Amino acid sequence: MRHLMSPLDLSVEELDQLMDLANDIEKNPAKYAHACDGKRLATLFYEPSTRTRLSFEAAMMNLGGTVLGFSSADSSSASKGESVSDTIRVVSCFADICAMRHPKEGAPMVASMVSSIPVINAGDGGHQHPTQTLTDLLTIRSLKGRMDHLTIGLCGDLKFGRTVHSLINALVRYTGIKFILISPEELRVPDYIRDDVLRANQVPFEEVIKLEDALPSLDLLYMTRVQKERFFNEEDYVRMKDFYILDKAKMELAGPDMLVLHPLPRVNEIAVEVDQDPRAAYFKQVQYGVYARMALILTLLGIEVK
Ligand code: CP
Repeated sequence: MRHLMSPLDLSVEELDQLMDLANDIEKNPAKYAHACDGKRLATLFYEPSTRTRLSFEAAMMNLGGTVLGFSSADSSSASKGESVSDTIRVVSCFADICAMRHPKEGAPMVASMVSSIPVINAGDGGHQHPTQTLTDLLTIRSLKGRMDHLTIGLCGDLKFGRTVHSLINALVRYTGIKFILISPEELRVPDYIRDDVLRANQVPFEEVIKLEDALPSLDLLYMTRVQKERFFNEEDYVRMKDFYILDKAKMELAGPDMLVLHPLPRVNEIAVEVDQDPRAAYFKQVQYGVYARMALILTLLGIEVK
């Protein structure tokens, strides 16, 4: 039995296979419509979510399976003091696979250690968000046609943004990747990402503050919101929240093929006027998230569709 805690739980070869499967699902949805008949997915969300929870649920339903779960800690027995370990033991009696989001880093890992069903980390605190990374990789490969030789700008809250941490971890394994890390001083990537991931893998990167300086050289811009829920005080959040706003004027500085991705939800960091730009790919990215999660569910349940 396998779990997914980090993108590194999948080798590059396995990632490629998973993306091939996701692309086949996209092209031939009917072929997979009964692949999970009789299977159940539990979504255990101790933190708010729109995309991740609903796309997991849509993914399982598209495969013919059913779903159950909770969407907040308040509506589960966590509010009475039940531990994550006890909850997963209980849920293992009801479901075949589980996606868990939790504000505490490592909570899905704790669950996986006692679970008798595969556990998928659907976001743990400011740590990792591996299924967003599968979504991002699939979007990049499908729309750019390659995963290598890319200059990638990551912009916004690089300190607390778990999608950024997971994406860097995954992308350092491809050839010719260069990162431009665009953030205010206070929201730079954590030291472990800079030292243990980027420097350790000898991946070139620059850290800059101005988005305008980076835009002309990017193949891909990954915007992120400032993670309000991870700040210790409101004053710091208010000071940081509108530090970057990508608008039409800034998009004119970028190349004609630069893709704009965003894990969403968006707050103010991408002006709505950018949505009409053909380079804006963040809503297509959401659709790729469903295919990626369908492929992941099939992979972790060991279901092959001929
Ligand atoms: N991208 C993402 O994780 O969105 P949700 O918080 O809505 O799940």
